[in-house]
This record gives sequence, C-alpha cells and structure tokens, in this order.
Amino acid sequence: MMETEKYRLVVASGPTREWIDPVRFITNPSSGKTGWAIASLGRTMFRETSYISGPGKEEYRTVKGATNIHVETTAEMAKEVFHSISDYTILFMAAAPADFTPVRHSTIKIKKRYRRSLNVKLKPTTDILLSAGTKYTHLDHFYKVGFAAETDNVLEHALEKVKRKKCDYVCANIVFKEDKGFGEHENSLMIVDKKGITMTIGPFNKDVLAGKLLDFIVRSIV
Ligand code: CTP
Repeated sequence: MMETEKYRLVVASGPTREWIDPVRFITNPSSGKTGWAIASLGRTMFRETSYISGPGKEEYRTVKGATNIHVETTAEMAKEVFHSISDYTILFMAAAPADFTPVRHSTIKIKKRYRRSLNVKLKPTTDILLSAGTKYTHLDHFYKVGFAAETDNVLEHALEKVKRKKCDYVCANIVFKEDKGFGEHENSLMIVDKKGITMTIGPFNKDVLAGKLLDFIVRSIV
C-alpha cells in the first residue's frame, strides 16, 4: 500500500453565495480551478477524495471518481467540511467562502422604487479553516492547508494566517489589481509552514502549480 492511501483527501473549492433576497447575493469571482486541479490530481493517490464545491465555473464543480458535494453558502460548506474530516485527513481549503452574510435575509424581493438607499447589515460567517485548526485538535494525522490571496505584504500576512488559523501550511498568491482577483494567468505560490519556513513555487499556470503544490505537501506530510 502506498503511504498516501492511508489518507483521505478533502478539498473545498470555489466561491460561496450569501443571499440578500431571492434575486441578489454576495459572492466573489473564484472559479474553483485550483481546488479542482488539486482534487483531480489527488484522486488516484488517496484512499478517498471528497470534493466540496461552491458555485464557481460549471467545469470545476465535479471531479471524476471523487465524492462530489455541491454547496451554496459558507454555512453549508462548513457543515460538509466538518462532516468529511477524520483521522488521517489532508484538508485543502482552496475555496473562497464569502466572509460575510446578511444579518437578515429577505424572503421577498427588495423593491428599489421604495428606497433611496439600501443598507445591508452583514455578520461574519464561520471561518472553516480556523475552526478546523482550533476545534479538531483531537484528530490524529489531520493536516490543514490554507490559501491566502493577498495584494500586499504577502509573506507577513501568510505567516500571520498560518499561526492564527493553526494550520500546517498556508499557500499565498499575489493578487494584482489588474487581475480583478482571480485571473487565469501564470502565478507563483509562496508556501509557509507553521514554523515559518517558506518556499516559493512557480510561476506556472494553475494546473501545473496545483500539481507541484500537491507533490510538495504530500512529500512533507506522508
Ligand atoms: N476561509 C475559510 N472560511 C472562511 C473564509 C476563508 O475557511 N469563512 C479560508 C480560505 O479557504 C483560505 C483561508 O481561509 O484557505 C484564507 O482566507 P482569506 O480570505 O485570505 O483570509 P481571512 O481569514 O479572510 O483573512 P483576511 O480577510 O484578513 O485576509
């Protein structure tokens, strides 16, 4: 048996949606490509692969041969991630869950003609990675890999995130303003571990980058 076959791979991918009313929601431009590439490559290496995806691009919602779970909101994604993890799990939180959700969700369409402005009060959603890092400490061989899309002070933010969210690795990529967040161009990843050791991979396109990242994590853990 390969050592990786002892492990279950759990990948959360894509954006989530937080509904304001039945026709409006808060989301972000994540496509789900990175998570999809990791789950697709990891599928043959691990005992089982769970792919938990939010509504990104249709082509990245399903990984052949994996247990596919479709979610919409951050709360649903959190529930499915917590349900999927156990001893001997490697979790990749490659998703971009919406960080805020409306305090009140209107069940009927909010009509603009009665309003001169609209205030939508938001509250934070569950931080899935943080909860995985802080509430599941009883699990044996449970490894957490987080991602960070940063526009500035990349290393500093990644180091802060790996410590605060108590994960094993944070993979940071630099988001340039011109990309509007989640572009398709070649990219580099800066991987930071919980001891503060860093390493950079890339620039490569997202598929190649996902493969190199998975190789690096598997070699470091297994
Ligand atoms: N993440 C999560 N649950 C959330 C939001 C984010 O698990 N509700 C995960 C992402 O999947 C990613 C990591 O946390 O792996 C980093 O997300 P990021 O948005 O960069 O970090 P934040 O905690 O939101 O920090 P900040 O807003 O300060 O950048």
